[in-house]
Amino acid sequence: MAGKDVQNGIDELKEKLWQARRVVVLTGAGISAESGVPTFRGEGGLWRQYRAMDLATPEAFSRDPKLVWEFYNWRRELLTPLVPNPGHFALAEIERRIPEFTLITQNIDGLHQKAGSEKMLELHGNLWWVRCTGCESLVEDRRVPLPEMPACASCNALLRPHVVWFGEMLDPRILNAAYEAISNCDLMLVVGTSGTVQPAASMGVQAKRRGATVAEVNLESTPYSDIYHISISGKSGEILPRLL
Ligand code: OAD
Repeated sequence: MAGKDVQNGIDELKEKLWQARRVVVLTGAGISAESGVPTFRGEGGLWRQYRAMDLATPEAFSRDPKLVWEFYNWRRELLTPLVPNPGHFALAEIERRIPEFTLITQNIDGLHQKAGSEKMLELHGNLWWVRCTGCESLVEDRRVPLPEMPACASCNALLRPHVVWFGEMLDPRILNAAYEAISNCDLMLVVGTSGTVQPAASMGVQAKRRGATVAEVNLESTPYSDIYHISISGKSGEILPRLL
């Protein structure tokens, strides 16, 4: 995409964004790429090096919980020194300026919160929370690394990462809140997601059907680039601050 097209896209999005009352932003791994968090499918993507089915399914956890915890402990170690980038900070600032704002993220890294975002729905959970496989209690646990087989402080059963694995349902309360925000928004911005994992992938199309303007910011084109009203090609850490 030529520089002129990028500028035109930004100008158009800026105008729509600051006219809007109700805004939804959907983010994926791309927003955290400039902070050093690996994405899933691009070059150097996690699912290019590791088999998701061995590490991120309930079956994998029943078969070999130590291996699955080793993977999540490694991701905790990787994330510990990382900080939000200008894209995360720009979204936190947009949240402060828009009357009704919802950030829906597929990311589990917690970088949006670190940047100051508050009105958030974490579709796929959070790496820094653990859930008991026995009593279901949910607690924040920032130890790095966690023990090989971490145990619940209340009932001593095995803890699991509070993340959504392949084949699992998303939390219906979070999903319903996301759909409600989408069906009522004036503008939806889709940032740094390849649009391959449902239900997040089709949320932009749903917003468009409900009459919202939908814009995308992504380094590469996606299956939705030609469907959305505005598609801006570039790094979110560079594009998003230009909307302010
Ligand atoms: P992907 O790795 O599938 O896609 C990342 C997207 O970010 C790609 O479209 C890249 O082009 C784009 N991208 C990379 N760097 C960028 C940058 N600096 N600025 C803007 N865009 C950039 O990640 P997701 O779409 O988030 O689910 O993946 C969705 C889900 O699949 C994840 O939440 C995870 C994974 O399996 C679970 O773990 C349940």
